[in-house]
Amino acid sequence: KIPRLIDPFGREHNYLRISVTDRCNLRCVYCMPEEGMEFEAAENILTFDEIARVVRVSAGMGVRKIRLTGGEPLVRKNLEQLVAMIAAVPGIEDISMTTNGMFLAPKAQLLKDAGLTRVNISLDSLKPDRFKQITRGGDLKKVLAGIDACADAGLSPIKLNVVLMKGQNEDEIADFIRLTRDRELHVRFIEYMPIGHNDAGWKSLYQPLSRVMEVCSEQGWGINPADTAPGAGPSENFRVNGARGSFGLIHPVSEHFCKTCNRLRLTADGYIKPCLAWTEQFQIRRVVGDDEAMRRMLLEALGTKPERHEMSQFLLDDASVSHTPTARRMSQIGG
Ligand code: GTP
Ligand code: 5AD
Ligand code: SF4
Repeated sequence: KIPRLIDPFGREHNYLRISVTDRCNLRCVYCMPEEGMEFEAAENILTFDEIARVVRVSAGMGVRKIRLTGGEPLVRKNLEQLVAMIAAVPGIEDISMTTNGMFLAPKAQLLKDAGLTRVNISLDSLKPDRFKQITRGGDLKKVLAGIDACADAGLSPIKLNVVLMKGQNEDEIADFIRLTRDRELHVRFIEYMPIGHNDAGWKSLYQPLSRVMEVCSEQGWGINPADTAPGAGPSENFRVNGARGSFGLIHPVSEHFCKTCNRLRLTADGYIKPCLAWTEQFQIRRVVGDDEAMRRMLLEALGTKPERHEMSQFLLDDASVSHTPTARRMSQIGG
């Protein structure tokens, strides 16, 4: 009998996040250094066939939900081909993508036709100049056009990811929530995570999400919990009374959600990463072609999965380190 993906803490893994490239057309301040990165050589990047093989084997062990990330996934040519290959794997029920949205408008219908179910789009400001500054070059108009194209193509629900940063965009919380009033958009506020690099500015930019609830009461908005789909990601969801859309809180730092972690990660260069925030990684590329060996490696990886990360420690005044021990940058993991 084929074993299921259950870790030593009894957590069942049904969600695989696949980074299809470490490259990105942008350099968001919380993700990449200003000077850019050295990217992996093309030969180190998994082919679509290799990725599909990992999907097939992990689906046999209980994975139902796939997310394509990057870098920026749409930097990878013909991504819709990979979507179609994944959609053909028995057991896969949901194929979503996390994207910066810049290349989305011309691709939305193609992706939908190939079998993509939905998208999560990064959108950290609704002010064009500020958006350009946070993303170091992004064009807000293109992203908004991408959102409209996804709605037209029936890629839904559409989720918008807002990484909140103190003094940068926390004054836009109410504007973001207002977006959910008339449109079926789902805005998720995300706490800035200190991932994998010594970012001296992190602590001063970190904004706990309790601020979102304060803004709702300042505005006099009545809010209620909104349903979260089973097996979903870490967002805790709410709805302003009468709104068509909803908003969510993703608070890895102030209140970790590791107890319900259902996620494994596949990096663009062919490693399984059992946890976003720790160094352990297993070179699954070596065993592509030997399904039995691949199953063993997936279980071995899960066996090393920590109970939780320690991000909140870095907020302490006497913290000796200020970032998670993973050697990878966020763009090399895919969030
Ligand atoms: P849904 O399937 O739509 O629920 O997606 P998701 O929220 O799982 O994915 P998305 O790529 O949109 O991620 C939103 C935020 O959650 C990003 O900042 C991710 O880095 C973060 N995130 C996702 N999974 C984890 C996790 O296991 N641990 C931590 N600390 N953060 C995570
Ligand atoms: N902290 C929190 N979220 C981050 N993302 C990228 N870097 C960070 C970080 N340091 C988000 C992106 C994208 C998702 C995959 O992760 O905005 O929406
Ligand atoms: Fe690119 Fe996404 Fe990182 Fe921004 S957050 S630099 S869009 S990979």
